[in-house]
Amino acid sequence: MLKRTHTCGQLRPDDIGKKIILSGWVHNWRDHGNIYFLDLRDRYGITQLVIDAEKTPDIHKQVQKIRCEWVVAVEGTVRKRGEENPKLPTGSIEILVEKIEVLNEAATPPFELADAGKISEELRLKYRYLDLRRPQMQSRLETRHRITKIARDYYNELGFWEIETPMLAKSTPEGARDFLVPCRLFKNTFYALPQSPQLFKQILMMSGTDKYFQIVRCFRDEDPRADRQAEFTQIDVEASFVDTNDIISIHEKLIAKFWKEILDIEIPLPIRRMGYKEAVDNYGIDRPDLRFDMKLKDVSDIAKNSTFKVFKTVIEKGGVVRGICCPSRLGGPGGSQILTRNYIEKDLTAFVADYGAKGIVWLKVSDEGGKLSCTGSVAKFFDAAQLEQIAKRFDAKNGDTLLFIADTLKNANKALAPLRCRLGKDVKLYGEGRFEFVWITDFPLFEWNEEENRCDSTHHPFTAPIEADLAKLDTDPLSITSQAYDIVVNGSEIGGGSIRIHRPEIQQKIFDLLKITRQQAQDRFGFFLRALDYGTPPHGGIALGLDRMIMILTGTDNIRDVIAFPKTQKGQCLMTEAPSSVDQKQLDELNLMLKPEK
Ligand code: AMO
Repeated sequence: MLKRTHTCGQLRPDDIGKKIILSGWVHNWRDHGNIYFLDLRDRYGITQLVIDAEKTPDIHKQVQKIRCEWVVAVEGTVRKRGEENPKLPTGSIEILVEKIEVLNEAATPPFELADAGKISEELRLKYRYLDLRRPQMQSRLETRHRITKIARDYYNELGFWEIETPMLAKSTPEGARDFLVPCRLFKNTFYALPQSPQLFKQILMMSGTDKYFQIVRCFRDEDPRADRQAEFTQIDVEASFVDTNDIISIHEKLIAKFWKEILDIEIPLPIRRMGYKEAVDNYGIDRPDLRFDMKLKDVSDIAKNSTFKVFKTVIEKGGVVRGICCPSRLGGPGGSQILTRNYIEKDLTAFVADYGAKGIVWLKVSDEGGKLSCTGSVAKFFDAAQLEQIAKRFDAKNGDTLLFIADTLKNANKALAPLRCRLGKDVKLYGEGRFEFVWITDFPLFEWNEEENRCDSTHHPFTAPIEADLAKLDTDPLSITSQAYDIVVNGSEIGGGSIRIHRPEIQQKIFDLLKITRQQAQDRFGFFLRALDYGTPPHGGIALGLDRMIMILTGTDNIRDVIAFPKTQKGQCLMTEAPSSVDQKQLDELNLMLKPEK
């Protein structure tokens, strides 16, 4: 077998005249009569091969039957390429082939690798090994590898140890549904796949490990979303005797390193911080996209004095009227009209309906000789002073469009926040390749769970309250601020963590507020509560969402693009066809009986 001397991405004009051997996959072929071209591809690149019928008639005959994706090795001489291809790093040279060996034939691929972008994702996932051969996918795998390597080196430098924690574990409360694994030896019991190593990493601090990290798979059976997978990876970290600033400072430097090494972009440090309240008030969400301004404003005080029934009824019921102000034309010079009536009343209204909003009310701003006013079907319910007041609240300019949603504060924000992001994108309010990072801090420790009539943890039940608010645990738990922080870039939460509770009596109080009974706490976290009793150091940590970071670094909005073997939105692996049924014998061993499907 011919053994390669170089890769398909390696040869340059300096190599002209050298005798070399390359191996790889046939990416393409072109028959120009006496001259036959093959593009040979491997992970490193593509090199053009030339077979000349006059010089090597046998080979010229042999290559006629070679097809795309066949695996071949060739021996030949590097020569200057007649017509250079500036798009290829090897584009100045080609190989005049003197010997060719077919290492393996290939069945006809179900799609052309060259334009897999247009192929249905289902097909790409089913034939993932072909999809992954594409240079773009290889590059994403490489970025992922480089990020984990940078992270490992970085933590190692700082004295963090990489420690594995169990995959067959006990249910941990990150808030999603668990994946369960039935246990054969203890009949009718189950392991849970970890939603995160949260409790184990805290126990490692109790074990004196001081600094831990792990690049770890987490499993959450949650509703699908474009940036979610049931099985995803975290860069998980915990350290002892630290405060919020320590964790933030370590991680913003790491994130800056990622962006510098992968994209050659300098992220100015420190990354800005924003309180949870400021984020929600201004952007309707705790992960604001700060690439553009377009803040949400409340106009309930003006709307309540209008004669518009829809607004008045909502406000009377304790709801709000909130809105955003959007330029009607595309960003950039000479931008064309985009916020047309059709776009608002069809596209945007359908869009917010997905987030539960019943509709959008809109007004167009006009500036007549310095006097602001608004027009639109609902303008008649407001007097001139009110319309001017509304336009002023948004700092609106002539031609801007104001879009309103009237609902409970929570629901209005739920629809306006994604609407704002969609408008920012559609109207092109920011350029490509911009990254706006922000740490969100000062989260409330609890949220009120209306249905269950109790507190829920905003992050997880092991998050510490700020010291100053400890007394409020007994009096006003919903007003307590936590020591949690999230890192957000361009509206995507790429990590989150907190300083943890290290005192057993406070942990117990939190469980009480979450209405977890002593018995339930013992059953679910007895091991953890016991460990807390034996001298727990103050500690805290964070987990970065590896997949989401790679998505942003590689510029894709599909999480499956950055995972070698991902699952569909419904959790299927189309290549292996998991999940699948199992033999009766396996079920018997596990003492399981299946119910007929409903
Ligand atoms: P959290 O649940 O916020 O924190 O997760 C940390 C980060 O992981 C990413 N992430 C996901 N990525 C892809 N698919 C998913 N289904 C998914 N869920 C979360 C996000 C998120 O910011 N134990 C805590 C961390 C801690 O407190 O130290 C935890 O898991 O980018």
